[in-house]
Amino acid sequence: MEVIVLPTAADVARLAADVIERLLTTSPDPVLGLATGSTPEPLYQELIRRHREEGLSFAHARAFTLDEYVGLPAGHPERYAAVIRRGLTDHLDLKPEAVQGPDGSSADLLGECTRYEQSIVDAGGVDVQITGIGSDGHIAFNEPGSSLASITRLKTLNALTRADNSRFFSSAADVPRHVLTQGLGTILRSGHLLLLATGGSKADAAARAVEGPLTASCPASIVQLHPHATVLLDQAAGAALEHGEYYAEVWANRPVWQPL
Ligand code: PGA
Repeated sequence: MEVIVLPTAADVARLAADVIERLLTTSPDPVLGLATGSTPEPLYQELIRRHREEGLSFAHARAFTLDEYVGLPAGHPERYAAVIRRGLTDHLDLKPEAVQGPDGSSADLLGECTRYEQSIVDAGGVDVQITGIGSDGHIAFNEPGSSLASITRLKTLNALTRADNSRFFSSAADVPRHVLTQGLGTILRSGHLLLLATGGSKADAAARAVEGPLTASCPASIVQLHPHATVLLDQAAGAALEHGEYYAEVWANRPVWQPL
């Protein structure tokens, strides 16, 4: 696990974009893992800018989203399938059919979870998985108490997450209670886990994920178990880290030949 604390959220976005760009330019068949939420928005803006201004191509890539609300009607703007199109993939040369997510309106939700998990396996797995972190320590929609070995399944959101996400809806009561989400075991199989957190409201969760115990009570603590995890924080999100000085020393002395 590598923890990198950068001055601003824009710096976090640029460094994360560098990781994606390297994958896109070195792999003939890159598979991206995309997250929704506010945290990756500056990263997605940067990827769109590089596509438009620098010709960064996604035409050969495929992508999987992490999670989806259950029961939002077709055409609802907060379905994550719509959010990721609006915020990223519509603005790239990624083929629409190359972007997949779990279908939260399936008549067979349990079957849909199995199908989605298998589709990631069939694609050869996710190469770089982008995630945020919830203020309760969740990753994707794996709430505290999630099995560390879990795969894609139905989960029930807790009150804190529904309150956090109420900013996208008319009220907390309108935030769906149920979701489909990749499991912690699914995320652990990704080739490179890139966890992003920005802003002081994530400082406590980020510190628990990175420096607390590996525990289902803080699902994002799987960054400690993943064989190749990079945690990118801005100053505010890194403020509660105990070993911040050491992480800064590692970053300042990183060998130039060592990729992220
Ligand atoms: P946010 O959500 O990026 O909107 O803060 C993160 C998450 O819930 O994983």
